[in-house]
Amino acid sequence: MERDTFSISGVSRRRFLKQTVAFSALAMMGNQPGFSGTPAAASGANEILMIGDWGYEDTAAQTKVAAGMAAYSRKNSIHPDALFLLGDNWYGALEGGVKSLRWHDGFEAMYPSDVFECPAYAVLGNHDYQRWPDSKVDAELAYARKGNTRWTMPSRWYSFEFPKPSPLITFIALDSNMPHAKPLAPGGRDFTLTPEEKGQQLTWLEEELKRPRSTPYLAVLAHHPVYSNGPHGDHATLIQDWDPLFRKNNVTLYLAGHDHDLQHLEFEGHPTSFFLSGGGGADLYDLKVDPAKRGPYGQKLYGFSHLSVTPRQLTLRHLDSEGHLLHAFTKTPAGQVGLLTS
Ligand SMILES: [Fe+2]
Ligand SMILES: [Zn+2]
Repeated sequence: MERDTFSISGVSRRRFLKQTVAFSALAMMGNQPGFSGTPAAASGANEILMIGDWGYEDTAAQTKVAAGMAAYSRKNSIHPDALFLLGDNWYGALEGGVKSLRWHDGFEAMYPSDVFECPAYAVLGNHDYQRWPDSKVDAELAYARKGNTRWTMPSRWYSFEFPKPSPLITFIALDSNMPHAKPLAPGGRDFTLTPEEKGQQLTWLEEELKRPRSTPYLAVLAHHPVYSNGPHGDHATLIQDWDPLFRKNNVTLYLAGHDHDLQHLEFEGHPTSFFLSGGGGADLYDLKVDPAKRGPYGQKLYGFSHLSVTPRQLTLRHLDSEGHLLHAFTKTPAGQVGLLTS
């Protein structure tokens, strides 16, 4: 692949060619039964599985992705240490709030605890902000507070270290529901952060980033992508408010959903890898920008994603709803990106 197709800071052409060979070998392995992507279980890595845009009213695609993720975990002896839920956790009505049956059917049983015996860290999407019939944000916070669940959302924005003990990544979970330019019409459902809350979160984020950190990696998760090749495109407010902080603080990874597809974007000289996993169950969207022009990867597909964490490197993978590997890359604490597939 030529440099004008995509470029990755720190990856020389020679090194890339080497990685292309690795990609070919991996792609061939992908056709073999029992292929595991990478031998996660043998690596001693800590494993995180993630989905975005998953809590759809029609659960057909969600059920398929959930089953594929469970089968992938079992087949590869992956015992996830965390599940990340990247927002749009509940589309449509959540009648009864914390008492809604959707909590059991769409979350607890959909992602069974015998496979996903781990905390499920959730962030809020635009659909979660819809008051339908009451505040789904309040319901999601209350469901976490009630205990006896894997659902983890201590507040609308929060941070945690992973894994425990001996953490390797500091995760900062943010609320990307920025205030609309126009006020909400009377009777409208689509609430957001208020301008005051937006400012409070930004101050908190700046303070959080100033704190001394012992982990080799720093990652941010939120629902809306900062950059996206999908129909929602690049997000002007997040580019203005958050992106300079990511650059300044060497954020390793930004995880998001919102566009209903799977993406990985790299920018020359930018320390952050942008990784989008929005194929968890809601209707898919066409990509707007060809990933061959800005990539290295994007595909309109149902699926989930897998992050393996070791002190030496992170490995990120996108998988389809059957658990087949679509795209994978590694990233070292120094920021070196290595593509395993393309
Ligand atoms: Fe969505
Ligand atoms: Zn969304």
